[in-house]
Amino acid sequence: MTNIILQTENLTKSYPLNGVEVQALRGVNLSIISGEFVSIVGPSGCGKSTLLSIAGGLMKPSSGQILLNGQDLTRLTEQEKARLRREHIGFIFQSFNLMVDLTAAENVEFPMVLANRPESERRSWVQELLKRVGLADKANHLPDELSGGQKQRVAIARALANHPDIIFADEPTGNLDSSTAAEIMDLLTDLNHKDAVTLVMVTHAPDDAARAHRMIHMRDGQIEK
Ligand SMILES: Nc1ncnc2c1ncn2[C@@H]1O[C@H](COP(=O)(O)OP(=O)(O)OP(=O)(O)O)[C@@H](O)[C@H]1O
Ligand SMILES: [Mg+2]
Repeated sequence: MTNIILQTENLTKSYPLNGVEVQALRGVNLSIISGEFVSIVGPSGCGKSTLLSIAGGLMKPSSGQILLNGQDLTRLTEQEKARLRREHIGFIFQSFNLMVDLTAAENVEFPMVLANRPESERRSWVQELLKRVGLADKANHLPDELSGGQKQRVAIARALANHPDIIFADEPTGNLDSSTAAEIMDLLTDLNHKDAVTLVMVTHAPDDAARAHRMIHMRDGQIEK
C-alpha cells in the first residue's frame, strides 16, 4: 500500500490587497507519497510559496483541506499546529532565516530546545548534524561569519533537528552560486535517498527540479495537468 504523507484538497488562497482579493491558489489538489522527492516549478507569482506555506501549516488556506499524515491541519489549533510543525516538518528557505545572534550550533539546537529534548541528547545530535552537513568545524560561528552555502547547510541541519517526516524547501539554492548550489542539492538529494525524508522543493532551476522523482508545474494558482 502506498503511504500518502501529504494531501491537499481543493486548496484556495486569496490575499486581500487594497480592497481587492489576489487569488494566489485556485483549487490545488496534491498528493505526495512518503519518501517521495517532488519539485514544484512555475513562473514567478503562480503561487508556489503560498502552496508550500499552507501545506506546511505556516499559513491558513481560504478554503480546502490539508491532510498531513492523515491529520487535517485546518482543524488544529495554532498550538497544535506549532507542535506538529516542530515534530514532523522541516523548512528551508531561500534566505536561510537563521537567528543572527545564535551560533551555527545554537541555531541547529533551537528546535530541539522548543521540543524539550534533554540537553545531553541535544548536544550530541547537534554535533552529528553539523558533521553531516560538513560544518563540524564551524559550530561556534555566527551566521554573519559563514558563507551563503554554509548558512544554508546550517539551515538544513536545523530542519533535521527533530527528525522530520517531510521537508519543505522554498528555492533552497536561490541565493547561491552554481557550484555551491550543486553541493546543497547533493545534500538534499542524499537526505531523500538515504534517510527517506520526503522532500518538497520549489525551484526556478530546471536542473535541480529534474533531480526530483516528480515535477509539478504550477500556473496561475493551479497545478497544470
Ligand atoms: N501577502 C500578500 N498579499 C497580497 N498578495 C500576495 C501576498 N503574498 C503573495 N501574494 C500574491 O500571491 C501570488 C502568489 O505569490 P507566491 O509568493 O506564492 O508566488 P511564487 O510562485 O512563490 O513566486 P516566486 O517564484 O516569485 O517566489 C502573487 O500574485 C503574489 O503577488
Ligand atoms: Mg516564491
